[in-house]
Amino acid sequence: MARIGILTGGGDCPGLNAVIRAVVRKGVNRYGHAVVGYKDGWRGVLENQRINLTPDNTSGILHRGGTILGSSRTNPFKEERGVERVRASLLEERIDCLIAVGGEDTLGVADKLNAEGVHVVGVPKTIDNDLSATDFTFGFNTAVQICTDAIDRLHSTAESHNRVMVVEVMGRHAGWIATYSGIAGGADAILVPERPFDIEHVCEHIRHRHQAGRTFSIVVVAEGAVPVESDNVVTAKDASDSFGHVRLGGIGVKLEMEIERHTGYETRATILGHIQRGGTPTAYDRVLATRFGIAAIDCASDGDYGQMVALRGPAIARVPISDAVGTLKTIDAEIYETAEVFFG
Ligand code: F6P
Repeated sequence: MARIGILTGGGDCPGLNAVIRAVVRKGVNRYGHAVVGYKDGWRGVLENQRINLTPDNTSGILHRGGTILGSSRTNPFKEERGVERVRASLLEERIDCLIAVGGEDTLGVADKLNAEGVHVVGVPKTIDNDLSATDFTFGFNTAVQICTDAIDRLHSTAESHNRVMVVEVMGRHAGWIATYSGIAGGADAILVPERPFDIEHVCEHIRHRHQAGRTFSIVVVAEGAVPVESDNVVTAKDASDSFGHVRLGGIGVKLEMEIERHTGYETRATILGHIQRGGTPTAYDRVLATRFGIAAIDCASDGDYGQMVALRGPAIARVPISDAVGTLKTIDAEIYETAEVFFG
């Protein structure tokens, strides 16, 4: 029997509740542990804001988006006496191991705390799929499905009005969401951060399509995509968060203007924004998140601290948290080359 803490940090992501439910169900029913849920990511640990989680109060949450625990982008390493306060809070609750469910930032904190002797286990989540050491993160499949549905719907207006439709999707500095949803939605151009784009080349391709008799085009652009002539991403706000990230957004509208100016074709941009993170997780993400939750409580119960559960091929593995953070997992050349066959 142990006392296990759990927190969800960073951007909310479909599947977080499935992880919480799995950790509690196996932790309480199979191991006889007590599970404590910290509110709002690392902020809850710093301020010792928590609730006791039971199979009863985590029932009926599997299909719900967001996180019942709340989330934040709080960074204990940026807070006054942050590490000391984390330690004191975990000690007060007699937490044997803390399960941190998050992306690069939340797990980056977990990795640093692990180096300081705090008992942690990591679970990878992000719609961006940009974490190293795992093939996929949960949330990504749902985001791709939402974007694909949106692209399908945008085809209606594109076809009816002979327009170029630009669809801006999330993903931060990786083009996973753009590439997968662009392939699935049959996009005519996919612009990703990993491959700076030449606007003339994009417009030439659109002109070529229209001269060949096509009456519309769909361009999917990742929020972190950059034109070749510029090193700078387009930002929605200059201020950065406590992990040093600026808020991306706006490249879609820039492209709308550029494409219309260069080609003369009527162009419209749609920014999908947080719709990509909202609502119910797909079946795939519910299953992956559940498997991660079960593997995380097993890992914590084994006392195998400093590990993150990961998807490796069909299996769930344990990898050092440090392998997952630090280097962003950008898109594979193979997947982008597959996409390029349709617009290169
Ligand atoms: O990391 C997930 C993500 O949705 C990114 O794709 C996006 O850039 C960022 O979070 C947006 O963050 P926020 O919700 O804080 O605006």
